[in-house]
Amino acid sequence: PNAEDDYDLNKAIASRSGLRQGLTSYGDAHFSLFLRKVFIKALGYTDDALSRPIIGIINTYSSYNPCHANVPQLIEAAKRGVQLHGGLAIDFPTITLHESFAHPTSMFLRNLMSMDTEEMIRAQPMDACIMIGGCDKTVPAQLMGGISANKPVLPLITGPMMPGSHRGERLGACTDCRNNWAAYRAGQIDMEDISAINEELAPTSGTCGVMGTASTMACVTAALGMMPLKGASAPAVSSGRLRIAEETGANAVSVAQAKRTPQEVLSKESFLNAITVLQAIGGSTNAVVHILAIANRHPEFQGEITLQTFDDIGRKTPLLIDLKPSGDNYMTDFHNAGGMLALLHTLRPLLHLNAMTISGKTLGQLLDESPFRSFQSSQEIIRPISNPLYPSSSLVVLRGNIAPNGAVMKASASKDRSLLKHSGPAVVFENSADLAKRIDDPDLPVTKDSVLVLKSIGPVGNPGMPEAGLIPLPRKLGSLGVTDMLRLSDGRMSGTAGGTIVLHISPESALQESPYGIVRTGDIITCDVEARKLQLEVSDEEIQQRIAERKANVSIETPDKSTRRGYRALYTRSVNQAEEGADFDFLTANGANW
Ligand code: FES
Ligand code: MG
Repeated sequence: PNAEDDYDLNKAIASRSGLRQGLTSYGDAHFSLFLRKVFIKALGYTDDALSRPIIGIINTYSSYNPCHANVPQLIEAAKRGVQLHGGLAIDFPTITLHESFAHPTSMFLRNLMSMDTEEMIRAQPMDACIMIGGCDKTVPAQLMGGISANKPVLPLITGPMMPGSHRGERLGACTDCRNNWAAYRAGQIDMEDISAINEELAPTSGTCGVMGTASTMACVTAALGMMPLKGASAPAVSSGRLRIAEETGANAVSVAQAKRTPQEVLSKESFLNAITVLQAIGGSTNAVVHILAIANRHPEFQGEITLQTFDDIGRKTPLLIDLKPSGDNYMTDFHNAGGMLALLHTLRPLLHLNAMTISGKTLGQLLDESPFRSFQSSQEIIRPISNPLYPSSSLVVLRGNIAPNGAVMKASASKDRSLLKHSGPAVVFENSADLAKRIDDPDLPVTKDSVLVLKSIGPVGNPGMPEAGLIPLPRKLGSLGVTDMLRLSDGRMSGTAGGTIVLHISPESALQESPYGIVRTGDIITCDVEARKLQLEVSDEEIQQRIAERKANVSIETPDKSTRRGYRALYTRSVNQAEEGADFDFLTANGANW
């Protein structure tokens, strides 16, 4: 035998080791393996260690990300799980995203994080990868990247923060951030109170403690079958969270050995289950965009999960979880009430129990193995189907002449339900700057029946589609006690926010052919949630004429695709619309070969 064969057969690197993956870098596979071993040994690993299944662990710790403050402890616990089960754990960084520290918006960077995740999983030798995420955009970014890389991946969530307290009332980011700020704006609480509240809204590490985007995506990930059910809700600071991390490490070794990839685990049924859970928890509207982006990464059913799927499932699914912003409680309450295990048992008649999970068992098998005995206080947080918080259609999809490709509303978070069927004159703001300038103008021609219309916050118009859809109420109406108005935009809203708010209007106003782009102050807009209608009471001819005028008017600011550089240029050129997931066209499963 020649020396190369000898080397290959000889030592240590058993055929199952991930270290053999991708050995093409130097043309000669034997030399590549030899070289790779040189450098990995510099970290102090023995041949024995290197003969094990290699489990990558994505480290998204950053001092800018309090939602991920516990990542070092999670890595330690996950490594323990991996190594107790005969694997070798190797952690590595990717970018991380925190909602408040990702200018202009974390959504602008979600696709970048998904690319980083995908390419680093692909680039480095590993047999499976634990993806530690938590804050809003991180989990969808990791699922998108993980599905595209299609190595075995196991999401591990950082977990929700604990609630805080002020004058005997519990507080949690960020529903209570908004409520209290609105109360302060309306003069109902003073500077001393708002400062004390500021200290208590995020009292521990972890993700926002209400059913915002982070908690929603955690529940969705569990419903997809990608992680242990407790993993959705155990508090960030709990020992339970560390045990989930250890368990995930152990699972990673068996998932690696079974070579169970996300494209194999996830089926259309997994997504139908996830959307059922989304509706039942009154989840974040952002999750609609994320789930569409995640599903569209899967080559087998790209385009099969649509906005209509969300609406259809919503009609059959009651809202069962009494958590802010749709209800009253916090993620810790959901966890103590039985969390996802209790919820999935309750939802059982609505679920596709044959959907596969990362464990290699179907969802039905997992539920059969883990019965849940309900108790009184549990049923106050996780209601039985016979006593829902909201009968159905927590999230609805609206269509009409100004939203031909759809719009989304979290009807269950409406504060004034009379607005769910409402007609009123539009007060139009051309963009966020215009809104900031005029919303508190005492002369603004606005009444409580007006419809506030904000343009230019869609994916292209304001890259990242900022969470500016929660248009503040004009101060002069706030001080009169008005707490809700019908509000429209092509942007997003924080999952922790509430109100009668239509979002994700598509096509967005920045596109020249957008009918939403031609709405004018004084036009009558009708919203009828029951009929799923969002209508501008203006004739089709008039709409077409206005679109033609707008196209002819060169002074209209349109995104200049040619002169931008860097990631923003890539983003503006490639982002698709909200109803497709606001992903990059070249990243979707059948994406253009960019
Ligand atoms: Fe990270 Fe809310 S800011 S989850
Ligand atoms: Mg958020």
